[in-house]
Amino acid sequence: MTTSLTDYYSALQLRTDRWSALRATCEQLRLATSAKQTRKLQLRAQELLDSLMPIEAYWAFPGQSVLDKLCLLLEKERYDELARLTRRSVRSLLAGAYRRQPQASEIEEPREAEEDGADDSAAPPGERPYFEVLIVDTIGEQQRQHQRQALRRMRRPDDRFVYEPVFVPTVEDGLIGVLFNHNVQAVVVRSNITLHSVHELPMLKRYLSSVEDEEIEALAPEDYAPELCRLIRKIRPELDVYLVTDQPVEEIAGRDLGNCRRVFYNQEDYLELHLNILRGINHRYETPFFHALRDYARQPTGVFHAMPISRGKSITRSHWIKDMGDFYGMNIFLAETSATSGGLDSLLEPHGPIKKAQELAARAFGAKQTFFSTNGTSTCNKIVVQAVVRPGDIVLVDRDCHKSHHYGMVLAGAHVCYLDSYSLHPFSMYGAVPLREIKHQLLTLKKAGKLHRVRMLLLTNCTFDGIVYNVERVMEECLAIKPDLVFLWDEAWFAFARFGPTYRQRTGMHNAAMLRERYRSDEYRKAYRAWAKQMEGADREKLLNTRLMPDPDAVRVRVYTCQSTHKTLTSLRQGSMIHVNDQDFKGEVEQAFHEAYMTHTSTSPNYQIIASLDVGRRQVELEGFEMIQRQVEAAMAMRKAITAHPLLSKYFKILTVRDLIPEEYRQSGIESYWDPEHGWADAWQAWADDEFCLDATRVTLGVGGAGYDGDTFKNRQLMDKHGIQINKTSRNSVLFMTNIGTTRSSIAYLIEVLVSIAQELDAWLDDASPMEKKAFRRKVKGLTEDLPPLPDFSRFHDSFSPGRDSGTPEGDIRKAFFLAYDESKCEYFPLEGRAMEAEIKKGRELVSTSFIIPYPPGFPILVPGQVISEEILAFMRALDVSEIHGYRPDLGMRVFTEEALGELPAAALAAQ
Ligand SMILES: Cc1ncc(COP(=O)(O)O)c(C=O)c1O
Repeated sequence: MTTSLTDYYSALQLRTDRWSALRATCEQLRLATSAKQTRKLQLRAQELLDSLMPIEAYWAFPGQSVLDKLCLLLEKERYDELARLTRRSVRSLLAGAYRRQPQASEIEEPREAEEDGADDSAAPPGERPYFEVLIVDTIGEQQRQHQRQALRRMRRPDDRFVYEPVFVPTVEDGLIGVLFNHNVQAVVVRSNITLHSVHELPMLKRYLSSVEDEEIEALAPEDYAPELCRLIRKIRPELDVYLVTDQPVEEIAGRDLGNCRRVFYNQEDYLELHLNILRGINHRYETPFFHALRDYARQPTGVFHAMPISRGKSITRSHWIKDMGDFYGMNIFLAETSATSGGLDSLLEPHGPIKKAQELAARAFGAKQTFFSTNGTSTCNKIVVQAVVRPGDIVLVDRDCHKSHHYGMVLAGAHVCYLDSYSLHPFSMYGAVPLREIKHQLLTLKKAGKLHRVRMLLLTNCTFDGIVYNVERVMEECLAIKPDLVFLWDEAWFAFARFGPTYRQRTGMHNAAMLRERYRSDEYRKAYRAWAKQMEGADREKLLNTRLMPDPDAVRVRVYTCQSTHKTLTSLRQGSMIHVNDQDFKGEVEQAFHEAYMTHTSTSPNYQIIASLDVGRRQVELEGFEMIQRQVEAAMAMRKAITAHPLLSKYFKILTVRDLIPEEYRQSGIESYWDPEHGWADAWQAWADDEFCLDATRVTLGVGGAGYDGDTFKNRQLMDKHGIQINKTSRNSVLFMTNIGTTRSSIAYLIEVLVSIAQELDAWLDDASPMEKKAFRRKVKGLTEDLPPLPDFSRFHDSFSPGRDSGTPEGDIRKAFFLAYDESKCEYFPLEGRAMEAEIKKGRELVSTSFIIPYPPGFPILVPGQVISEEILAFMRALDVSEIHGYRPDLGMRVFTEEALGELPAAALAAQ
């Protein structure tokens, strides 16, 4: 083989490349002119076929049956036929045409449009979606054939979907099958299976390291099948599983069988199985609201309602705006409607298809309740904060979080305790909040006797730059200090995470469900008692240094997540969801949540957005697993291509895990996903254990080495010259976010663009004068070394600091916010010159009236009521960005007058 296994990030890539290599080899073999050449190519073809055998064991197409045919053709030296069948198989595989002709024996030449392999979206209308059913059973080839035929015979013209079975014999093969083959949507497990796979391919065995544990070895054979059902729920909870057993009912009843939909008793009733399989898929396929909206759009309706665009009437009858109709097509207007015009459900009081769609979303995302929003996560965040937080409650908030949270705190009247993230000085950005900092604040509040007022911890997971928290550990340790703490995880960027097994373990909903189960178990209770005994009399330092365990009798699991579905999945802009798993939701929050939802939700929500959320849910439940696999693969390919490219690595640098996460938070020791020396790292351990890990789908590129600041590189190079859009920069970096639509071709285009920029720069430097070279070096140094220190949160001014007497840091942000409405209480200082420093030197405390949010970095470096420090001023001057929200260069920095602050009653007293 010319490429080694470590060259591949994934087995999917390996599979595609091996098939392409086989196609090329068979083509050459057909055209070979000498016996020596033929012999060499024969051996190579055989080698490739042998290497594909274990891989194809997990796929229905081309599968082992096509490989058997190819082996036979090779053996009989029928090279023309060999080349033809290989060519057709590869094309069909790459173009997805096999989905339309799922039987290997019917492989046809694909249509022209399918040839580049990129797009099978032009499927004929009415075509039935295709999937594969993994049958885990020890039967031999003859019986497999028999079952395959029997299931095919069950197909009926009115089936909505079509599938092909794939047979594997063991628990390990079943696990590899569901992790490797994204076409698998249902699994049939028979009770006679064995444990270990006979295949030894390390690339495939790698899948097992993330799933199996030692305990599986100790299982009795009759437990293999139930254990496989449970493990499948753990890795792909969306799949339907059917158990076929001959064990007595009473032995099966009462066992945990994962997501098993039905247990069959050793029967050969293929029709029953077939119908169940299709019904299971239909449960995920159904989109109640999208269907209702489509049906509504088809009805002839007269509109006497304040909605002239409805049914396109204001457009088709217009002489001047017909182009809008031409551009969008009529359906979008036919579907424009309102709850009050009848026929459809209401987002504000859902009882029909919206309610059903929300319930399906809750199932898909693992929540107890899900609520749709048509105004983005900005609104979702405010809804949750208002629903949970009462005026005067203390909320621990990541200072770098999205501005909607800061405004939410103002509206709710929260007393905010800002948490500092670790800083990434060399890149002028922040990481995320270390658990030690959170525990430190909670313990400080506890010591001051204020724990009863601490209501919520609010963190962004993952951050814009892709730093991902250890959600389980954060929640466990915080709950050990404050057992009823509410968590709001801002998962604006993380909607997709539920459908990647590695990602899922760091989502709020997954951990909420897992912790609820854990705290119910006797095993945990026992472990807790032993631990609590050891911890008796522990001092603060010990509490900070020990992994804490919550008391199962006191703990309440209360978790909310807000996701911008539109940012990472299919949804129209602003389509977002709130997911809830709060043990006290029904008893305590439901009414307040309803009020908060009413406060922030439009009475004219956009139904197209709701329909797109419904359809986006269907998609991610059926193909999210595949899309995420492909997205990660694309991002990894990009990392490798840039890092390994000699010219690109001269000017650009992909920021690695080591660059973005300090060593103390990387218990696994992982440094990068790929490096030239070690190839691909196995990141599983990092995702299981590390305090923080890096979302691989986000790729941050250091551009300071090319003499560019992030903003200039984004606007002048990427956008203006090459039409590439990105939305996040830092002083010396740009962030490339892959998404579920990112293709290998778009990555290739980006690399091409970067190479052309590097070539241009290289050529310019080659001709540059010594002075020009010196200026370039100075610029690079300024961007990569002489960076302004990032300022931490200073503190709230005493007037807004109800905790000042007890030494706790929370601030009354609402008081400061509304005080600033009175212009007579505010004055302005120019940022230029040193007027403000002079005031500070005289002993005056300058206090910000507003949020000051520079872009980048995009989080408030000042909030209302915060004392302005010299470090903050230095940072603002050095920022060198054109966009600073809340700051008007023509007026200067807005601060409270000394008189205004002097008139205020002491905050500590006011808070009592
Ligand atoms: C962390 C975070 N939360 C919330 C939001 C707001 O989301 P939306 O654009 O859906 O309103 C953003 C937007 O970028 C964000 O980055």
